Amino acid sequence: MPPKAKSKTVFVCSACGREHLRWSGQCAQCGEWNTINEEVRTAPSAAQSAVARTAFRAQPLSDITADNSHRYRTGLGELDRVLGGGLVKGSVVLLGGDPGIGKSTILLQICEEICKQIAVLYISGEESPHQLKLRADRLCVQSPNLRVLCETDVLAICEHIRAEKPGMVIVDSIQTMQAEDIPSSPGSVTQVRESTHALQRVAKQLDIPIFLVGHVNKDGNIAGPKVLEHIVDAVLYFEGERHLSYRILRAVKNRFGSTNEIGVFEMSGHGLQEVENPSMMLIGGRPKGVSGSCVACVMEGSRPILAEVQGLVAPTGFGNPRRMTNGVDGNRLAMLIAVLEKRAGYFFGNMDTYINVIGGLKLDEPSTDLSVALALVSGLKDLPVPSEALVFGEIGLGGELRAVAQCEQRVREAARLGFAKCVLPKQNLRGLPKSLKSDIAIIGAQNVRDAVGALIGDII
Ligand code: TYD
Ligand code: MG
Repeated sequence: MPPKAKSKTVFVCSACGREHLRWSGQCAQCGEWNTINEEVRTAPSAAQSAVARTAFRAQPLSDITADNSHRYRTGLGELDRVLGGGLVKGSVVLLGGDPGIGKSTILLQICEEICKQIAVLYISGEESPHQLKLRADRLCVQSPNLRVLCETDVLAICEHIRAEKPGMVIVDSIQTMQAEDIPSSPGSVTQVRESTHALQRVAKQLDIPIFLVGHVNKDGNIAGPKVLEHIVDAVLYFEGERHLSYRILRAVKNRFGSTNEIGVFEMSGHGLQEVENPSMMLIGGRPKGVSGSCVACVMEGSRPILAEVQGLVAPTGFGNPRRMTNGVDGNRLAMLIAVLEKRAGYFFGNMDTYINVIGGLKLDEPSTDLSVALALVSGLKDLPVPSEALVFGEIGLGGELRAVAQCEQRVREAARLGFAKCVLPKQNLRGLPKSLKSDIAIIGAQNVRDAVGALIGDII
């Protein structure tokens, strides 16, 4: 008879995964209240460990092939790009995002295309087969190669996958999964971790891709332990404002591709539609000849994306002027206002200032400094920035413009979208090919005053 497995009680924080020796109201690591739960751990018996150890077999690295034929196309080009060129066989991909953002929708939607290549098993712990059918009808997913299973017992699911051998599995969601032999409730740290481990083992054994849906907590992290992100091969986040129809898919970890790529989608009546030209969407419908609007260019992975930054400057009705931002960092705005006051002579002391980025985009690249500064000056002086102009450049505390990376790609994108003028840091001029200058007028500015002079023309 194998020796009896030992068990021990630990207290685990459900927000960060930190283990404590005893229960307390607040987690010592992340500071969250009421997140510590009691869990019982069973150590594997010596007999079980021995079985696991016998399966070792090393092979020469040179014998292993790594060609791209192992990738499946999902039918959504934007998703394929974020995954690094398609879905890799044997990979476990975690898809996180706010409730209602479209996680279940995108995964059901790709089934139609993937079912043309392999059989898909969709496991739902949240919805009934009837609900899934309704959604599939709406998304026009009818393939007989798609099978659904509404179940939450992860061990039974793993058995089922081994028996049925589908080509791909979708698990919606990992927080509803539960291993019967672990005495804690679904969604707890241990359950989520063990369920992910079990599914990951199946994925590697059968060499099939598995998609896991993960819920996010109020801070925007995937609910459950951070260790979950370490177990899986890729972590994708679905972002977007709930009231806007645009959704951005971002890879925060990817063992098979770059983590900088983003995919842009729009939620429609028939599921998510790809937006192949996000710049067009973000700068379309700009008002012409109105002050306080300036177009910026940021790099999202290998793609330049154009975005409209709007600034409104109005006299304050209170003692302290308001500084509000949406899409750019509030501290960065305060710094830019100080630079404009000290180095360029524009005063905002008795003015409320509002900065807004259209389309719910978040711009965290310093190259957007110049567009924010121009939107502010344009708003203050009520003089418009020409609508055919694009600007980018980081502003230093001396008011100088600092060079930015990937300048050529940004200018090319501006020229492609029909912009006639581009104001950029003077230092960047050196690296630009001469041929570009025939497509677009390129103006190098030494400091923020030069840039204002070139576009707004109001130099104090
Ligand atoms: P869903 O995929 O259920 O979100 P998650 O799984 O991330 O919680 O998202 C559903 C939302 O999308 C819901 O608010 C309805 C909307 N929706 C559409 O607008 N069009 C559609 O075709 C579908 C299927 C959903
Ligand atoms: Mg869902």
